[in-house]
Parts: sequence; structure tokens; C-alpha cells
Amino acid sequence: MKGLILVGGYGTRLRPLTLSIPKPLVEFANKPMILHQIKALADVGCTEIVLAVNYKPEVMVGTLKQYEKQYGVHITFSVEDEPLGTAGPLKLAEDVLKKDDSPIFVLNSDVICEYPLKELLDFHLSHGGEATIAATKVDEPSKYGVIVYDRDVPNRIDRFVEKPVEFVGNRINAGIYVLNPSVLDLIEMRPTSIESETFPLLVEKKQLFSYDLPGYWMDVGQPKDFLVGMCLYLTGLSKKQPELLTKADYVYGGNVLVDPTAKIGKNCKIGPNVVIGPNVVVGDGVRIQRSTILKNSEIKDHAWVKSTIVGWNSTVGKWARLEGVTVLGEDVNVKDEIYINGGKVLPHKSIKNNVETPQIIM
Ligand code: GDD
Ligand code: MG
Repeated sequence: MKGLILVGGYGTRLRPLTLSIPKPLVEFANKPMILHQIKALADVGCTEIVLAVNYKPEVMVGTLKQYEKQYGVHITFSVEDEPLGTAGPLKLAEDVLKKDDSPIFVLNSDVICEYPLKELLDFHLSHGGEATIAATKVDEPSKYGVIVYDRDVPNRIDRFVEKPVEFVGNRINAGIYVLNPSVLDLIEMRPTSIESETFPLLVEKKQLFSYDLPGYWMDVGQPKDFLVGMCLYLTGLSKKQPELLTKADYVYGGNVLVDPTAKIGKNCKIGPNVVIGPNVVVGDGVRIQRSTILKNSEIKDHAWVKSTIVGWNSTVGKWARLEGVTVLGEDVNVKDEIYINGGKVLPHKSIKNNVETPQIIM
């Protein structure tokens, strides 16, 4: 089987992290975001994976090629000269995707969930239609694609509305699809949107179905949601693979994932919901909750960190206090005793004054 991951876009909503590396390589729970998807595709039996990108993929090629062996997959990069939207990339990769008659998995690159792709595939094969969208429910559907069911046929989609202005329902497109190769015949070779152009055509043909995803789901393409997604992911781990979570004395409230190369000082209180990356050094008496600390960073003695993402190679000074969805870019230095509330700090900055209200620090 084959899978295509839509990796385009510049990841502007995840700045300042994406000023240093492409969004799919930003580590989510200590693993490049896109590896969660590559692994899920490999687990369901995909051997051919296409990454659809619209910028120079050198960094990604370098990082991801090494995983081909580990996951037993062949990864190709399909590079667009101009952004082709969410459907055009499928047409561009038609040769690979139409290699055989097996269904094609398509994933948005910025979502996380439990990836029940086997169940999704079984459902797809059971209804016999050309396409299946995985769906989930949210409270605020206006920033997503909304699915309305047909009254007569269970799970058949009657209407698909991308970014609705008026409320039509709260069952939304989770950004995970299974398509028969025939769907590629509906797509033209130009910038085009699967949500606004291809899905309506499939609805008209009565060929579009939807599968309700069990478990959690989150679009983690912006810092606030990245942290919510991290909490959901860690809670999922605590139920399914609790052995991966740390049980050290400093853990407070559970759900703490610590890379084995990280060093944690004395009398720390860490958790709930914290991810600590490789080679991170945490001093003594540090308090961290609901945060991700990316690799090679240092959190000095008695710092207090909450709802924050600390970028790679950064330093948080002694008695510093970070909160309110603060994001430090790569190589940021927060001086001792500094307070930051909701600051988005660009790479290589040194912060010497308090940042009391949410803002971008350039
Ligand atoms: N290759 C390529 N080329 N990929 C692209 C392009 C492009 O021109 N434009 C967007 N993408 C990728 C993005 O990187 C992302 O993985 C995916 O396509 C969806 O684009 P987003 O920009 O993240 O869309 P969204 O979050 O506003 O909405 C989409 O996702 C929602 C779920 O999170 C839609 O699919 C909605 O219907 C859906 O509910
Ligand atoms: Mg998105």
C-alpha cells in the first residue's frame, strides 16, 4: 500500500520554532512530528510513502532517509514548483500512487491522534465507496472542514463545508483519508484543494464516506494546540504504553516523558504533562509543568516553567519564570530571574527584561 503526507506550507503558525527547521521535523514527544505519521503508515502496511513538499526538501531528505530502513518503507519526495494545494500534490505523485490498485492513505502533516489506520481501512473497504474521511468532533468547528451526514445512508457524507462561516455541525475532517486510485482521475494538474474541489465532486457522486475516529485528535500546528496535543498524547501513552513514561521521584502528577540522555537535578518537581528531550540539563529545585523542553537546552536551578516550549540549545536562567504559552526559539538565553508571559522569542535572542504580556520578541 501507499501513503502520501501533505507537508507543504511554511509552518508560520508554529514560529519561532519553524524559523530553524521545517514544521514536520519539529519534535513532538521527542520524535519529529512526521515520524509519528510515517510509523503509522508503516504499521498499517504501507511500503511506499510520498512526502509532498513545496519548498527545498534537503534538510528533510537528510533527516528522514535514515528512517527508511528502521520502518521498512521507501520514502520519496514529491517537490512542487508552486504550491499545489491539498489535491494537486496527489496528481503530481500519480505515477507512484497508481502503481497498483490498492487504496491510498493521505495525511495532513500537522495532526496527531492514535492513528487507527487499520480500522479506517477496514471501514473503507466495507462501504465500497471511492473515499473515506476520518472525522472527529470539536467544540469550535469554524477553522476546520465540516462533515454533514446523509440522512438515508449511514456514514455517507451529504455535504462538506470547508471553514464554515455559519454553524453546520461539529463533526470535522481530521485530515486523514483513504482514497481509491480512481479519485486521482477527478483531480486536475494545477493548484487545487481536496477540501473545496475534490470532496464536493465525490459528494455529488455519492462516493464520500466518513469514519468517526476513536480516541484523541489534535491539529498541533500552533503552539497553544501543540501543548494541548502533547497532553493528549501523554495521557494516551499512560494508558497504552505506560512503560515509556518516567517513574522517577521528581515526577509530579504523572505523564512525564524524559529522554534517557537528559540530566535532572535534585529536588525537582516535574509534571504533569512534560516532555524533556535529549541532552537537556535541568538544575536543582526546578518546577516544570505542561511543557516541552527541546534537545540540548538547559533549565537552571529554581526556574519555574509552565505551558512553555523551550527551543533547542536554549538556556533558562535561575529563578526565571516562564508561562502563558511562551515559546523560545533556538538558542535563546533567558537571564536569571526573568519573567516571560506568552512571549514568542526569535532564535538567538538574549532576554534581559521581563516580558509581562504576550508578544513577539525579535
Ligand atoms: N504539498 C503541499 N502543498 N501541502 C500543502 C499545501 C501545498 O500547497 N498547502 C497545504 N498543505 C498541507 C499542510 O502542510 C497540511 O499538512 C495540510 O496540507 C493541510 O493544510 P493546513 O494549512 O494545515 O490546513 P488547515 O489546518 O487550515 O485545514 C485542514 O486540516 C483540518 C484538520 O486539521 C483541512 O483539511 C480541514 O478540512 C481539516 O479539518
Ligand atoms: Mg492544519
